[in-house]
Amino acid sequence: MAEKPWGGRFESSTDRRVERFTESISLDRRLFEHDIRGSIAHARMLAEVGLLSSDECERIVRGLTEIQAEIENGTFVFDIAREDIHMHVESALIDRLGDIGRKLHTARSRNDQVSTDLRMWVRDGLDRIGSRLVDLQAACVEAALVHRDVILPGYTHLQRAQPILASHYYLAYVEKFDRDRDRALDCRKRVNVSPLGSAALAGTTLPIDRSISARLLGFDSVSANSLDSSSDRDFAVESVFVLTMIAEHLAGWAEEWVIWSTKEFGFLKLPDALCTGSSIMPQKKNPDVLELIRGRSARVVGALSTLLVLIKGLPLAYNRDLQEDKAPVFDAFDTVESCLELAAVLVRGARLNHKNIMSRLDEGYLDATTLMEALIERGIPQRAAHEVVGKLVAACERRGVRLVDLDDSEFLAAHPGLDGSIKSKLGVESAIAAFRSEGSTAPAEVDRRLNYWSEKLGVVSNKDKNTDKVS
Ligand code: ARG
Repeated sequence: MAEKPWGGRFESSTDRRVERFTESISLDRRLFEHDIRGSIAHARMLAEVGLLSSDECERIVRGLTEIQAEIENGTFVFDIAREDIHMHVESALIDRLGDIGRKLHTARSRNDQVSTDLRMWVRDGLDRIGSRLVDLQAACVEAALVHRDVILPGYTHLQRAQPILASHYYLAYVEKFDRDRDRALDCRKRVNVSPLGSAALAGTTLPIDRSISARLLGFDSVSANSLDSSSDRDFAVESVFVLTMIAEHLAGWAEEWVIWSTKEFGFLKLPDALCTGSSIMPQKKNPDVLELIRGRSARVVGALSTLLVLIKGLPLAYNRDLQEDKAPVFDAFDTVESCLELAAVLVRGARLNHKNIMSRLDEGYLDATTLMEALIERGIPQRAAHEVVGKLVAACERRGVRLVDLDDSEFLAAHPGLDGSIKSKLGVESAIAAFRSEGSTAPAEVDRRLNYWSEKLGVVSNKDKNTDKVS
């Protein structure tokens, strides 16, 4: 067993039970690439300021590169006695290079090292999440184009409310995912600051140049306070919050589609390949992927709350509690990444059941609000118009008919402003056509936004594709 690099102060070796309890290598081995990249940048910086000779630096870089290859090809030996990824890499280097290897940890501590590694890992993670969000947005835009002619009942309180274009529906999620992406990009700015060189907590007396390693590692800047940056984990909490918001958006959408895929709704056709069966009920086709996307949001919320409780009340600077940040951070990223991937597959694979949806659009008085607004346009106060239409709906309900089925005389009796021309405003299609406000489901508004997103995301509609082929 390799001696511990801090062995000088200790008279006995570590109790095996303590080793098992304190190790983090089982989790933080995932940081190996970032750890080695960080060490190479650190060595190059040490050489530039004269703390390593260029020959020592080259040997260290070569050694680290070989260690990376061993980890990648599976020949590297992990041992909990070496505690974490930082000690594994450094000890393996010392095993190879002896005293030269012992120089790598100059002007550095595992406290700034682990923060550097995790910041780089989170930065990459946020970039991957950003690409997945863009892909999901593109899938939603494709679906909006495919279902351009579909009108859906829009809901509030899960009760039929007003008609909406299916494209308006899909674009609602494109906007939500865009804010998620924006949050990821904004969070990345605070993640991308180099703590390296903060050392244990107070910095170092050695003549290092932190900007060199920061530049080599792609950081935008160097942290301003060693005490802060060797201990801070807000970057981890913030990034997991970004993920939590994505998970919440996905969970709401998944719930909606679970409902839509029921016989009762019959709005959605999910391809067989994306559903599973039941072991006892042969007729079943279950939307398990949607349910798991909905369910996995719990893990992400859990990760966020773990991190918040973890850092609560920690005094400056580094405390070993912080080692517990890895499990929730890794799990939140893994979970949201896979949920985003599957969500895009589902959005691309599912079809709205146009016929089923259309056949019931007459139910639920989706045009009642349009009628009320037509009255308002004729100068009737909103509260009065609301009352008039409410009474008409009640009369229709008693007779089981639609608003458009009422006689002209009944409209006139309800209000003198309701002449025969009012009928042209009724029915879901007229109701959709009547919308005008910015951001509404008005066809022109939806098209404007659909064009914006298609262009921005490089999505070409099938119709356009066909035209291309013809010309
Ligand atoms: N494995 C530790 C972590 O993840 C690395 C830092 C340990 N620092 C220390 N002083 N024990 O936080």
